[in-house]
Amino acid sequence: MENKRTAYIRSIGRFLPEKKLTNSDLEKLVDTSNEWIVSRTGISERRILEPGLGCSYMAVRATDECLERAGVSPEELDLIIVGTVTPDMLFPSTACLLQNMIGAKKAWGFDLSAGCSGFLFSLSTAAQLIESGRVNKALVVGSDVISSLIDYTDRGTCVIFGDGAAAVLLEACTEPGYGLLDFNLHIDGAGGEFLCVKGGGSLRPASHETVDNGEHYVYQDGRAVFKSAVTEMSNVSVEILERNGLTGKDVKLFIPHQANNRIIEAAAKRMGIEEEKVIVNINKYGNTVSASVPLALYEALLERDNPPVKGDYLVLAAFGAGLTWGSTLLRWWEK
Ligand code: UT7
Repeated sequence: MENKRTAYIRSIGRFLPEKKLTNSDLEKLVDTSNEWIVSRTGISERRILEPGLGCSYMAVRATDECLERAGVSPEELDLIIVGTVTPDMLFPSTACLLQNMIGAKKAWGFDLSAGCSGFLFSLSTAAQLIESGRVNKALVVGSDVISSLIDYTDRGTCVIFGDGAAAVLLEACTEPGYGLLDFNLHIDGAGGEFLCVKGGGSLRPASHETVDNGEHYVYQDGRAVFKSAVTEMSNVSVEILERNGLTGKDVKLFIPHQANNRIIEAAAKRMGIEEEKVIVNINKYGNTVSASVPLALYEALLERDNPPVKGDYLVLAAFGAGLTWGSTLLRWWEK
């Protein structure tokens, strides 16, 4: 175990659309209030991609920043995984579109659909391909234009979600005991009905009926999802510490999926992690689905005082449609 090759995060980039949709904008669209949204979710505004642009547009921009920061050219990439539930189109995959747009000539890759856990599941998959020795440079992207699936007359969902993308570059860590050390991932299809888009797949292809029924929009039973999210995101975050012989006190930063402040607070409390160690940016971006965890990581690495240094433990955690959830333990490493 000690000498196992691991993956580490070498670089990061992001893209956030310029257009802001504020709580007061939403007050004009649906029966809601700034006070309700802030107190129940923690969100003040979110970003919305302009119509006519897709998931790949944001993915390319996040990737450009990520690779430039590392001084790595797209031709060097071996693998591209894009976590998304809002690909440009059903196929080809956004990974293929991105590969072509950036000129990653030797990379293979695919999209990974795991709701808001899309980035974490993609990170785990890429890390294990690096561990195997088959892949040396992997690009992992979380990119979602979730506004393309939102019904802006449904106050239960339209206040929560926003668009965004972020990308990380994974490489092999050459020092034992550092990098991405552990993953604790789960799915439970029994909860799938609580958060889904029913139309547009092979079961309910687009038709006048599916459009009239609103089946191409996100459906969410907020209360049911909330209950599972609080329990499961807390459980996996505590478990990953315990099984690695750590406690909340050993953790430098907790970087959770940004779905609801109350879910984040519950998980941090169960882990015994102080507020200042928890990355929260939900107020600015809302729930950006697959981009949520890497956007929070970006902030932790590049926009906060006292960023992680070699040896610091970080825990990433997510929960999403599927249902899907998981956590990751990493020990920060720099060459
Ligand atoms: O990221 C993937 C996973 N997704 C999540 O983790 C989301 C989990 N769910 C949540 O974050 C919360 O359930 C929501 C933020 C979606 C909703 O908050 P809640 O405290 O669970 O509200 P609720 O659905 O229990 O509704 C409470 C009340 C209802 O009114 P009544 O029936 O008590 O009269 C709703 O109709 O709040 C009402 N309500 C609203 N009021 C003002 C629901 N949405 C709104 C709104 N503005 N936007």
